[in-house]
Formats: sequence, C-alpha cells, structure tokens
Amino acid sequence: MRKKVIAGNWKMNMIPSEAMRCIEELIPLVKDSEAEVILCVPYIDLFYALLIAQNTNIKIGAQNMHFEKNGAYTGEVSGEMLKSIGVEYVIIGHSERRQYFAETDETVNKKVKAAHLYGLKPIVCVGESLEQKEAGKTTEVITTQTKLALDGLSKEQVENTIVAYEPIWAIGTGKTATSEDANNSIKEIRSQIAKDYGQDTADRVIIQYGGSVKSSNAKELFTTSDIDGGLVGGASLKADEFAKIVNFNK
Ligand code: 13P
Repeated sequence: MRKKVIAGNWKMNMIPSEAMRCIEELIPLVKDSEAEVILCVPYIDLFYALLIAQNTNIKIGAQNMHFEKNGAYTGEVSGEMLKSIGVEYVIIGHSERRQYFAETDETVNKKVKAAHLYGLKPIVCVGESLEQKEAGKTTEVITTQTKLALDGLSKEQVENTIVAYEPIWAIGTGKTATSEDANNSIKEIRSQIAKDYGQDTADRVIIQYGGSVKSSNAKELFTTSDIDGGLVGGASLKADEFAKIVNFNK
C-alpha cells in the first residue's frame, strides 16, 4: 500500500511572518495525520519554515533549484544549498516554470538527477495544456514528460521520486479534473514507469494529482486506485483549509 502524500505549493505567496503564523496554526491540525504532509515554500521562507516545523510531522520543500552544485549563476539556489539547511523536498518542472521560465524536459531531467545527487526528494510535475487535451494528446504528453524527466535514474531513485500530475487547465481555475479522468491519467503515467523500470517500481512510486484541489473534492480524488495524494496550490495558503485536505478521510 502506498502512503498518501499531501504537499502544499505556496508559489510566490507568504512573507516569513505569514509563513510562520500559517505553519504554527497548521501543526496541531495535522499532527495525527496518516498522510505525509509537505509544504513547499518560497526560498525566503525556508529557514523560518524549517525552524517552526522542527520536531513536527510537517516536512519542508522548495519550489525549484538549479542543477549545478555552485558557480556563477546569479540569483539561483542549488540542491546542495537546500539540503544544507534541512530541506527534504523540491518541486521540479512545475508548469508555471515550464511556461514562464523556459524550463524544458531537458532541464527538468538535469534538476531531477541533481536533486537525487544532493539527497533531496523531487516532486516532478507533468501535465497537459487545454489545447493538448482537446487534441486528444493527454496520454502522449504526460507519458513523454514522465519518461524524459526520469531518464537515466536508477530504479531506487525513481521510487524516491514523487510525480505530480497537474493538468494545466485545472491549475488555479477552479476546474478540477474528475476523479475518474485524473485517476486514468495517473494510471497511464504509472504504466509508462512500469515499461521503463518494471512493475514493482511503478507500484511504489507516489503519483499525486494537482489542480484546484480543495477540501470539498479531496476525498473523492484521493480515494481512487492510483491517486496517492495531492499537490495543492491556493488551498494550501489557509491552514484550516489545507488541514481539511490533509485529513480528507477523517
Ligand atoms: P491550485 O491548487 O491553486 O489549482 O494550484 C495547483 C498547483 O499548481 C500546485 O502545484
């Protein structure tokens, strides 16, 4: 049985004082959660978030990283830097980064490899646009993105990678994918992993759904056969709403 993993992606929201307040509020609300709880926060909040979440069941992640260890890359942060302060997870290849910051399947793959090299667990995002969905290309797009993102990893590294299926048309729009469609897409992603790394590995990989997840739809999504939790944007900014999503089966 795979564990449910619920991660918040705060995107470019929350100054440190707000971050600390939100996490303080969240701690008692999720302390008995059976699901793994992760908050992926802006770089500026990482240190504060790690301090407040110390000795709790809330894990902290970043939202991006550079693939090099160090060097002349003004404005960038490396996996080694994240690891050095206690960060455990890092989102890689979010569609907003692919769209606005020229992230490609190649840079995503480099970053996924670098994350493993520095002992971080990547949460790799894949997902189709509305245009691709309407052209009937969803499966092709998401299986190709998955294959390219994981290319060159060992089975063990693949098992230590979280994949987040986030249809772009569902992000921040309030238009959640139906649980049936999301589950089917995630099954396609799992089959691709099975083809490349074997069924055992595919059965162990956590694959989340993201895109307008809220407390009112979390249970329906997360109790399907293949959706192993969620990557939650807007609804992770409010402790009580995010806690309800984490505690979806209570
Ligand atoms: P929303 O939950 O706000 O739709 O965002 C989803 C997302 O992009 C999480 O990474």
